[in-house]
Amino acid sequence: MIDRFGRNITYLRLSVTELCNLRCRYCMPEEGVCKKDHSSMLTQEETVMAVKAAASLGIKKVRVTGGEPLVKPNIVSICRGIAGIDGIEELCLTTNGIRLPELGHELKKAGVDRLNISLDTLDADKYRYITRNGDLADAVKGIETALSCGFEKIKLNAVLIGGFNDDEIADLAGLTVRYPLDMRFIEMMPMMDSRIFSEDAFIPYTVVLDKLPELEPVTSDGGVARLYRLPGALGNIGLISPISAHFCAECNRLRLTADGKIRPCLHKCDEYPIKGLDYDGMRDQFKAAIEGKPQWHGELSYTARSGAGRSMNRIGG
Ligand code: GTP
Ligand code: 5AD
Ligand code: SF4
Repeated sequence: MIDRFGRNITYLRLSVTELCNLRCRYCMPEEGVCKKDHSSMLTQEETVMAVKAAASLGIKKVRVTGGEPLVKPNIVSICRGIAGIDGIEELCLTTNGIRLPELGHELKKAGVDRLNISLDTLDADKYRYITRNGDLADAVKGIETALSCGFEKIKLNAVLIGGFNDDEIADLAGLTVRYPLDMRFIEMMPMMDSRIFSEDAFIPYTVVLDKLPELEPVTSDGGVARLYRLPGALGNIGLISPISAHFCAECNRLRLTADGKIRPCLHKCDEYPIKGLDYDGMRDQFKAAIEGKPQWHGELSYTARSGAGRSMNRIGG
């Protein structure tokens, strides 16, 4: 369906849980989230029905997110349900990778086409720090499993944090020379949890271009990243710049939260609830959300913080 600003809305980011087995400092509070009553979250049947309703309005791609989607006990069965929906051409999932060694093969069999995996650092102590106690070796095993399961176009995501990982840009980018995967650097967004970082930690994507002058531009794959390649590399380098150059004019996304709220924009708190509705009711809410999608998210900077009103793990990134 085309929105008021001529954008064709074809991509649904579907958060299946607010919970996570890590606590990344830019995403979640240290204490995690208080576990909600099951009755306020979408059931698997409601989730699949919601995606069917969205598909009937032109959604073709679904990206499953969280929290961490792989801590959801029925994640494989949810993915199988979504993969079987008419009109859904691409099913992707964004994960921290920790549970991929257990679940990678099953997810592939269930119909997941692509994986994006978070990896902010290659240093075990820094990984433990940024995730508040995660083990880098687990994430690496997860990435190795993803490569061995035959997922296409695996993308690694590093949130750029000045004074934390800007000294690792070349090492992280070097992974694309050794492995058939893309490495993406993402400007840290000023969500409520990233308030713990000082202004110097918010650095623009152009630092990557300064550190890697050998990068050559590559044609876009239609996603939010500007693409480049190191000479002789197997994968691309992607630069995602939500702060210094927003991509609202090309935004083709809607979000559905684990508690059943459709969000037309990551940085706005407008929500269209669908919990408890039947198929037609859900379809009407998706239509209203597309019609209500704002032109852009408004000013976004260290001082003009996101208007999301929820932490990132409760939206899905
Ligand atoms: P593909 O294009 O399918 O590979 O995925 P993606 O880049 O859309 O998804 P991913 O979950 O890997 O997100 C990468 C980064 O982009 C995360 O930091 C997201 O929060 C951010 N992001 C995704 N969608 C949007 C959006 O609509 N607006 C903004 N500002 N950031 C977004
Ligand atoms: N800014 C940018 N990216 C973020 N993510 C989580 N919080 C932020 C933030 N404040 C990223 C994660 C993951 C993706 C879903 O969103 O690193 O890769
Ligand atoms: Fe968990 Fe991802 Fe948030 Fe890290 S960024 S705490 S892995 S949901």
